[in-house]
Order: sequence, then structure tokens, then C-alpha cells
Amino acid sequence: MRITLDQAAAKLAIGDVVAVPTETVYGLAASVNSPEAVKKVFQVKGRPSNNPLIIHISEVEQIQPFHPKYDASFAKLAAAFWPGPLTLVLPIDPHTVLESVRAGLSTAAFRIPNHQVALKLLSKTGPLVMPSANLSGKPSSTSADHVESDFGMGFPVLDGGSCRCGVESTVMIFQDQQWVIIRQGVLTPQDFHPVLGYVPAIDSGKQERPICPGQMYRHYAPKAKLRLATEFTQGIVLGFTDLEYPKECEILYLGELSHPETIAENLYRTLRYLDEKGIKEAVVDMRFNDAGMMKTIAERLWKAAS
Ligand code: TXA
Ligand code: MG
Repeated sequence: MRITLDQAAAKLAIGDVVAVPTETVYGLAASVNSPEAVKKVFQVKGRPSNNPLIIHISEVEQIQPFHPKYDASFAKLAAAFWPGPLTLVLPIDPHTVLESVRAGLSTAAFRIPNHQVALKLLSKTGPLVMPSANLSGKPSSTSADHVESDFGMGFPVLDGGSCRCGVESTVMIFQDQQWVIIRQGVLTPQDFHPVLGYVPAIDSGKQERPICPGQMYRHYAPKAKLRLATEFTQGIVLGFTDLEYPKECEILYLGELSHPETIAENLYRTLRYLDEKGIKEAVVDMRFNDAGMMKTIAERLWKAAS
């Protein structure tokens, strides 16, 4: 059910949850201070309670009430990338953030989304938690239709069109005097070099307790069985317009390898399309260099196929 910005603000004020567009993917929004609303977010998504939520704000100053501790480089990152697809995890005063939001950690994640509708809403409501608006484990939603397909036609969605980026924000934390990427996303490690003077490392997330709790879970997966491959004989292939395929294959094009941004934009829509069409099995073409944005895409494909 499509709602207006004023209706969304009114629902959030009474502790309801609504879906909100951002430049990355749609978010499932709730007021950061409402324990009941935050509980609904976890219930609606079927999200494990040990996976914390990102606090979305419209101005950097809005993090002050959480008493964050940060290195001087935080201001440089915020100035360079906010509003934008970057989430920064900071130590905070735990009394200022609901335990359910931070999943019991003594840190909280913050982001200013770069989407006019989200910013306008946030400036009316104040800070909102917003995990991706999808059933836990499924591909994120990049359109209002995707949200309705997961949560039902009656679910309130603020429609802001298709998401420009199509994959989630990059999540970073400051550890041992360096920023470390704990979830790959729209911004690549190289994007940070001009601002930080170094390329942040990517944490593998393979520890028993990953720094980014979300890394523990299966993600981005359609019902269809995906197989990653570099050779093809027949069947449905998720492929690229600049590569060749045998004529026995039916190709669902993700985009052109020379335009990774378009591939990112199409990724979840294509994974969701498999389920819409009842396709049981597909092969993904992995004949690409996993550098820059294609590294993020490769990571999503590995998770979707695992
Ligand atoms: O692009 C995005 O980031 C989207 C849009 C809606 O903003 N949101 C999003 O939220 O992807 P979600 O909840 O699907 O993913 C947030 C990730 C999870 O993997 C979670 O574990 C991690 O951020 N995270 C949140 N708070 C954290 C914290 N305090 N420490 C470490 N990781 C944290
Ligand atoms: Mg998510």
C-alpha cells in the first residue's frame, strides 16, 4: 500500500513500521526510541535478535545525543561520503540506544542516506532504524513492488522509485588506528584512499563471532538454486551483455561488465525475477575480475548461492 510522506511520518510517530526508499535499497523504518516499533521490525523481517540495526539520520549533528567516541578521521569520512552509501560503526553510550537496536553491543551504526524522500522524512521524524526491507535471508528490495511482494500488498510503503545503487551501503568500524570494512557495499576500498590516505582492509567476517553480526547469516538468496560457473552448455544463465554464450542458454542479462554500477542496480531485481517466474535453477557467469564494485557483487553472488 503506497503512502505519502506525511502518512509515513504519522505512522512512525505512533510506533508503526513503514518501508522507505534510500539510494541503496529500501529500508524498513521504525523510530529509534520506540522499543515496540523496533520489536516489530525484527518480527516483520524474521530477523535474528543478535543482528543490530543501522540508525539513519539526516544531519551529522544528530549523532551527538548518543555520545559517540570517534577518531578525527570520522569527520573526514562524514564530510566526504555523507549523505551517501557509507555506514560508520562508533562506540556510543549504551544508555542512549535501545539494547534491541544495538543487539547488546556497545557500538551503534550510523548512516545519512542520499535520497531526497528519506532525508525529508528523517528531518520530520528524527533518527530512524532501517534494516533492508526484505524478509531475512532474501535479496534486498530495490523497488516498492519488492517490498509488497515480501510483506504483503497492505504493507505501508513510501514509494521513491527504483533504488539508484541497488546494493547496500559499505559498513566500516575503526579498529587498531585504522578503518576496516566489515560489510562490503557500494563504496569500494579504493574509494577511501583519497580521504584516509590508505585503502581500508576488508574483514573476512569468517570468525565465529564476526565484527559485523550480519555476516553470520545466509543472505541475498532467492528460492531458485544458483550455481556459480565459468562454463555453460544450456539452461538459464545470469550473464553479461559483453560476453558470449552458447545458443542453448537462455540469458538473463545483469548488464555490461564495463558498467558495474548497472550490474549492481539490476542484481537483486534479477534474483527476485527468478522466483517471480518460478525458475528453480540458474547458473551465474563468474567470468569477471572481482575488483572494485565487482568484488561486492561477487560477494553477494557467493552468499546468494551458498
Ligand atoms: O544500505 C544499507 O545499509 C541499507 C539501507 C536501508 O540503509 N540498510 C541495511 O541494513 O542494509 P541491514 O540491517 O540489512 O544491514 C546492516 C548491517 C548488518 O549486517 C548488521 O549486522 C550491521 O550492519 N551492523 C549494524 N549495527 C552494527 C554494529 N553496531 N556493529 C557491527 N555491525 C553492525
Ligand atoms: Mg539486510
